[in-house]
Amino acid sequence: MGSSAVFTTLLLCALTARCSADGVFWHVTDFHYDFTYLNGAESGKICDSQTAGQPTPNDPGNWGDYLCDAPWRLINNSVYAMKAIEPNPDFIIWTGDDTPHIYNDKMNTDVVLAIIGNLTDLLRSVFPNTQVYPVLGNHDYHPKHQMPPTPNTVYNATWNMWDVPNWLSSDVMNTFVNGAYYTMQISPGLRLVGLNTVYYYTNDKVTAPTDGNTDPAGQFAWLEGVLQQAKTDNEKVFLIGHVPPGFFERYQGKSWFYPEYNRRYLQIIAGYADVIKGQFFAHQHCDSFKLFYDDEGKAVNSMLLAPAVTPWSTTLAGVGANNPGIRLVNYDKNTGDLTDVSQYYSNLALSNMQGSPLWGREYSLRETFNLPDASPASLQDLLDSFSNRSSDNFEKYYLYNSVSHDQSSCDGSCKVAQLCAIREVDYDKYQDCINAATSGAKTAQVSTLLSFEIFFPFVVAAFGLAA
Ligand SMILES: *[C@@H]1O[C@H](CO)[C@@H](O)[C@H](O)[C@H]1NC(C)=O
Ligand SMILES: *[C@@H]1O[C@H](CO)[C@@H](O)[C@H](O)[C@H]1NC(C)=O
Ligand SMILES: *[C@@H]1O[C@H](CO)[C@@H](O)[C@H](O)[C@H]1NC(C)=O
Ligand SMILES: *[C@@H]1O[C@H](CO)[C@@H](O)[C@H](O)[C@H]1NC(C)=O
Ligand SMILES: [Zn+2]
Ligand SMILES: [Zn+2]
Repeated sequence: MGSSAVFTTLLLCALTARCSADGVFWHVTDFHYDFTYLNGAESGKICDSQTAGQPTPNDPGNWGDYLCDAPWRLINNSVYAMKAIEPNPDFIIWTGDDTPHIYNDKMNTDVVLAIIGNLTDLLRSVFPNTQVYPVLGNHDYHPKHQMPPTPNTVYNATWNMWDVPNWLSSDVMNTFVNGAYYTMQISPGLRLVGLNTVYYYTNDKVTAPTDGNTDPAGQFAWLEGVLQQAKTDNEKVFLIGHVPPGFFERYQGKSWFYPEYNRRYLQIIAGYADVIKGQFFAHQHCDSFKLFYDDEGKAVNSMLLAPAVTPWSTTLAGVGANNPGIRLVNYDKNTGDLTDVSQYYSNLALSNMQGSPLWGREYSLRETFNLPDASPASLQDLLDSFSNRSSDNFEKYYLYNSVSHDQSSCDGSCKVAQLCAIREVDYDKYQDCINAATSGAKTAQVSTLLSFEIFFPFVVAAFGLAA
């Protein structure tokens, strides 16, 4: 931080008597409001999620069902829980996916916009004086995922909803209506960049890379420009987005980005690792993180993946459901350094039995894992501890990965998929990681010098898999 920034901070301290550098913000995501949800008492139509591949639950609860998207009652309760737990965050980030997982023929653009409007109204009424930074998810468009890299009714109408005090400022209209991305200064020295990474999702067929099109809506070039300017201005940056790069840790080999876009995203992070202080993403509905390395193998950046409010069990085989979660992030206002993450949740099964949700803290990175902060170096220490057999950190992490819904244990290929997804965002390196873990476990018994020197220590160090 430059001396003028220090001076400004001191001056603000003197004027406002708020000298603390401790900052805090909410990250909330993936509400997936199912407007068709009715309680079990009302027979017939219950929740519409079964139309997207799930069986019909027999007796969906008042507060939601693990086979359904979220009823309004749960969504409303989650936002009021945020208010009860931390009523004065510096800001809120809201990373999209507002509509339910139902077939396109049951949706249309008006319904998408009505739901975005419902959630906008709720956040505004519960947090009328709080700055909200939203982005759109792949379910915030009709037909779902097919976001065009050009102006359209959804960006336009959403812009009109979000161009309100404490939300998007009018100077970001141009990038928002053209591509649904923007940048705004959070505070002196700290900048937010809201990305539309739905463009990079392989389900978005209108943005598939071609010879003539490698940068949908010009977002990559724009992002590099913003990061370069931030570097020049000595600002730090928080990146927020919906669909993450890399792999899904609960499903081996499952990635979201087109390979070209994954590479480009990684290159940009590597080029500006000293400017970017945090990446806050969503979409997987699970609680995890990803590390980004420099050429020497040092962790220089991280991505924190926040779990969903919807408990919906995905149709991806074996992945399962989650409890509803909301997340508080602590950071240093002067440096942008992340100091802690506290995950809050309510146990949905218990909520339905008790008659109302009870929200509590599930874990905090600092307290639960005994870390000094939430920096990339600390997250690397956490990842290393996942291979320490005397530590139960991985077991805890794996429980929290489903927001304490999945109580099973995870070893063998389940654990390999988890660790490789955290460690390798690059597609080739991820495959090497999977291969090394798998073949390494076999070749460890083969006493060739090669397998011993290369695979055995790697497997022991990275995974603790060798018998
Ligand atoms: C939303 O939650 C608040 C706080 O619990 C409650 O007072 C209000 O009635 C709820 N509204 C709806 C529509 O559920
Ligand atoms: C959502 O918005 C629509 C359209 O404005 C409205 O009719 C409906 O009552 C809203 N639902 C909730 C839960 O606020
Ligand atoms: C966006 O909305 C404005 C009015 O608010 C209208 O004039 C314009 O044509 C719209 N553009 C698109 C692409 O829908
Ligand atoms: C492994 O975990 C145990 C228990 O937390 C701890 O005492 C030990 O220092 C750790 N070992 C390494 C190599 O970090
Ligand atoms: Zn989602
Ligand atoms: Zn999504």
